[in-house]
Amino acid sequence: MNRNISTRLIKALHDGQADAGAIAAAGAVLRDGGLVAFATETVYGLGADATQAAAVARLYAAKGRPSFNPLIAHVASFDEARAHGVLDARAEALAAAFWPGPLTLVVPRRPGSDICDLATAGLASVALRMPAHPLALALIGAVGRPVVAPSANRSGHVSPTTAAHVMSDLSGRIDLVLDGGATPVGVESTIVACLPGRLRLLRPGAVLAAAMEAAAGEAVETGEPESGSAEATPIAPGLLASHYAPNARVRLDADAVTAGEAVLDFGGRLAEWHDRASAYFDLSPKADPVEAAARLFAGLRELDASGAVGIAVAPIPDDGLGAAILDRLRRAAAPRG
Ligand code: TXA
Ligand code: MG
Repeated sequence: MNRNISTRLIKALHDGQADAGAIAAAGAVLRDGGLVAFATETVYGLGADATQAAAVARLYAAKGRPSFNPLIAHVASFDEARAHGVLDARAEALAAAFWPGPLTLVVPRRPGSDICDLATAGLASVALRMPAHPLALALIGAVGRPVVAPSANRSGHVSPTTAAHVMSDLSGRIDLVLDGGATPVGVESTIVACLPGRLRLLRPGAVLAAAMEAAAGEAVETGEPESGSAEATPIAPGLLASHYAPNARVRLDADAVTAGEAVLDFGGRLAEWHDRASAYFDLSPKADPVEAAARLFAGLRELDASGAVGIAVAPIPDDGLGAAILDRLRRAAAPRG
């Protein structure tokens, strides 16, 4: 894409309140088919009006995203979700328990929904989320239509958790960035499929499987579907193996550091390598997975910017939010296509 537009950056959150002028301006840009990046409680999203195929096409182009990768439609109310998706009793229970919040429900698309096919990649299902961030909720409400919003980074790059991250990836390619400060959760929403058949976790995040099981009163499948089963049809084509990739090679579960490597530490486990590593970032010196998730993408960016040839990652416990952190790090470590 050779467009080079000037990207406005507006501070849009004051004392936890969305700035009415900024929201009105951003809502108008989206209704006109423009692209606006905004803070959510998980990561910054790059928004477009979900009902305008031309706007969604611009969004794919700005991100450099493969167009078979479907997007999440963000809504501002339960009724707006029901207008575009068919929420069964389990989906209703999950929405009641976790919305607004970091949970995305994949449900059958409602016939007559005007979300464009480009946004859903032509699937018969749609991914819906009502975010908890005051900026995001106010903006979607101002647009009055669902807003698709993938993470506001160039495709395959690390997800942005500050407005500065967004500017470094997308300045010159989008119309506006609404700065709402650092995002509190720091990893993308949990995605669960509520389609005929069993509930299935498609992407781990801050809403844990056990909490969803308690709310829905039913088991949530977390493994790979049995091959050959109806459920084995790839329902999350966007979950490409190599994703969230910094330039440096990522090596997990490191207990030592080799020449030229930077350290992504957890709980100070690799602190003895601090001075010998080319750069050092501890996700959470007190080994708190919540703090670590919030700092994950900023840490990857900082280490990558140091010019290190590789990033050695300390062992991170594979439970709770640790599972979501490891999911993102495994994608960052996957061989590049
Ligand atoms: O926290 C989040 O969810 C952030 C913020 C901005 O809200 N958004 C985000 O969007 O992570 P994105 O586009 O980076 O990730 C959307 C994921 C993709 O992996 C895609 O494949 C999956 O959702 N997805 C979308 N529609 C789907 C569908 N109908 N069936 C299965 N997976 C779907
Ligand atoms: Mg993404």
